[in-house]
Amino acid sequence: MWQRCRKPGWTLDPTYSAFSNSKSFTSCAEQFSKLRTRLYEFRDNEPLHTLLVTSSLPAEGKSFVSLNLALAMMRQHNRYVLLVDGDLRAPKLATCLGVPGAPGLTEFLQGAADASSIIQTDTEGKLFFISAGSAVSNPTELLSTERLECFLRQMAALFDWVIIDAPPVLPVSDAIVLAGRCDGVIVVVRAGSTGYDVVSTALQELRGKKILGVVLNRAEEKEATYGAYPYYGGNGMDKK
Ligand SMILES: Nc1ncnc2c1ncn2[C@@H]1O[C@H](COP(=O)(O)OP(=O)(O)O)[C@@H](O)[C@H]1O
Ligand SMILES: [Mg+2]
Repeated sequence: MWQRCRKPGWTLDPTYSAFSNSKSFTSCAEQFSKLRTRLYEFRDNEPLHTLLVTSSLPAEGKSFVSLNLALAMMRQHNRYVLLVDGDLRAPKLATCLGVPGAPGLTEFLQGAADASSIIQTDTEGKLFFISAGSAVSNPTELLSTERLECFLRQMAALFDWVIIDAPPVLPVSDAIVLAGRCDGVIVVVRAGSTGYDVVSTALQELRGKKILGVVLNRAEEKEATYGAYPYYGGNGMDKK
């Protein structure tokens, strides 16, 4: 199947890559390596292959975290990562990677494309990507299909990690549906922006799902060094 994947030639948006060698992202890249380590620790105790990245609201950094976590994972020797744009309403990752946005997940879920025609890969063949696909009028219904559940199970067996970039929890139910199909959920919280009550409501909506922790995104450097609790530079992960 890998041989048949599309290799479109990627042009990563430097503003979305914490590994772009930009000075402003140095500590941020470090935090993604720490997040990766944390996830391997979780995996020592329980099966963990499919990860959902969501948040309470739009623009908290879900796509940023999904992409950079995938980049952190694939930088390791012999690790193969599948990144999936599961935000069928506001897809972002194809633009960030500079690759075609369709065919993707929606075409696959509608039965109009098979797995090998929606998976794209970089030239090294370490990072694999499925775009959201063409816009549809019924995203929640499509994400609820057994076809997706079955597909994710297959992908979990093929890749070291499957990372799904999801829509936010509060405006629509897509993320809740996806969370039920993943081994673990990471909740991104935009530091200094998203209120406590908003995050609590989102966590409440996700009750019964396997929440691994919270990534505090866009924390200022001073928050990283002050206080009793170690909030890390760009992103930190707290165990729930
Ligand atoms: N840690 C970060 N550092 C710098 N810019 C960030 C960070 N996280 C997100 N951004 C920027 O914030 C904007 C929204 O992020 P995005 O990941 O698209 O949000 P979401 O997917 O939650 O809607 C983007 O322009 C992104 O580049
Ligand atoms: Mg997004």
